[in-house]
Amino acid sequence: MAMKELSDALFFVCSLEFLRMSVLWTYSLISSYWQLIKESEILKSYPRCSPSTSPFRPVCVITGATSGLGAATALALSKEGYFVVIVGRSHQLLEETIKRIKDCKEDAQVKAFLVDISSIKSIVTFTKSFQHWLLESDLHCSVQILVNNAGILATSHKVTADGYDQMIGTNYIGAFALTKLLLPLLESSPVTSRIVNVTSFTHRSVNDIQVDERTVSGRRFLSSEQYPCAQIYEYSKLCLLLFSYELHRQLSSVGKSWHVSVTAADPGAVQTNIMREVPSIISSLAFKVLGLLGLLQTPEHGISSIIDAALAPPEASGAYFFGGKGRVTSSSELSRNPKLARLLWETTCNMLSDIPFGSEETKKLASALLCPK
Ligand SMILES: NC(=O)c1ccc[n+]([C@@H]2O[C@H](COP(=O)([O-])OP(=O)(O)OC[C@H]3O[C@@H](n4cnc5c(N)ncnc54)[C@H](OP(=O)(O)O)[C@@H]3O)[C@@H](O)[C@H]2O)c1
Repeated sequence: MAMKELSDALFFVCSLEFLRMSVLWTYSLISSYWQLIKESEILKSYPRCSPSTSPFRPVCVITGATSGLGAATALALSKEGYFVVIVGRSHQLLEETIKRIKDCKEDAQVKAFLVDISSIKSIVTFTKSFQHWLLESDLHCSVQILVNNAGILATSHKVTADGYDQMIGTNYIGAFALTKLLLPLLESSPVTSRIVNVTSFTHRSVNDIQVDERTVSGRRFLSSEQYPCAQIYEYSKLCLLLFSYELHRQLSSVGKSWHVSVTAADPGAVQTNIMREVPSIISSLAFKVLGLLGLLQTPEHGISSIIDAALAPPEASGAYFFGGKGRVTSSSELSRNPKLARLLWETTCNMLSDIPFGSEETKKLASALLCPK
């Protein structure tokens, strides 16, 4: 092993972030399963409803579909009969993903779009070209499922084109923006449409949360001597959860949650590329330990909660899917705080209003992002 790799690994092991990941995250994961066992008598589970493919083929959009859980979800939903729109940031990986899906299902209907979920302009451009493509296709001009799956675990501070921390920008702000922009297409669906936000058990490690523009944009963490990667990851996943519940509440208040359902899905621990930035010796060791504890899943098993949420009946809106078999459980108390969720919503809308958009057409489309409702 190269000296550099070894010294990086040693440096990481000596950090607070490593301690947080190895102790707090394992504790959060075990307590999630413990809660599932403890509440098994009272917890609800929802059946999967297969889509009707006539008179039109339903469309699902999956972000981060070129690897791990996203790629497995794309294949599974393609097998369910969906026209799968895969969203990714690498042209080559998108091509490879289409090939893999078609190798497993020859008649699969798949379309790829190159989108950087951490860039608001890229999301706005995607929304425009996706709408044009839908109008020109023989599909119904609507979306039946949106899976906000793209996510990263960054170990160093990087800034997005809009000036946000890259991890928060990808894991939360990008999902917020895409959902708001695709909402009209989800609302146009003749059958119940579903939004599935892929969150994580790590949100349980957050005990206190600050919601202001400095924190939500990630600028507050710039002053930290060492990038608090574990803390930011947990924070971004908690924000995604608060957003899911707030959107569900807003749609319910106008009687629309039966038409557009919003759920969160927690896959548990899954062996994917999520730890690509962590020194490889540490990630391999972490996967080994999780495997020995019986807590590690393959992406094909790990997608259970995502597919459960994607195919759940409309009454599941507002639920937190975890553990497969259609099971839902309670997320942390903090994540269920409606005042905090409302504040986060308004703060995010304010932040997005600072982004300069070019043409009038783009400005008009982007105004959906800025509107607090
Ligand atoms: N694995 C776990 O144990 C676990 C547990 C709980 C929750 N999750 C969540 O599950 C989701 C999927 O992660 P995974 O485990 O499958 O990890 P993964 O294998 O690393 O896949 C992440 C996907 O997101 C894409 N992505 C990242 N940044 C993007 C951007 N700016 N624009 C567009 N796409 C972007 C990646 O594209 P590239 O291939 O181009 O990088 C990749 O396709 C994440 O939200 C993660 O937080 C994972």
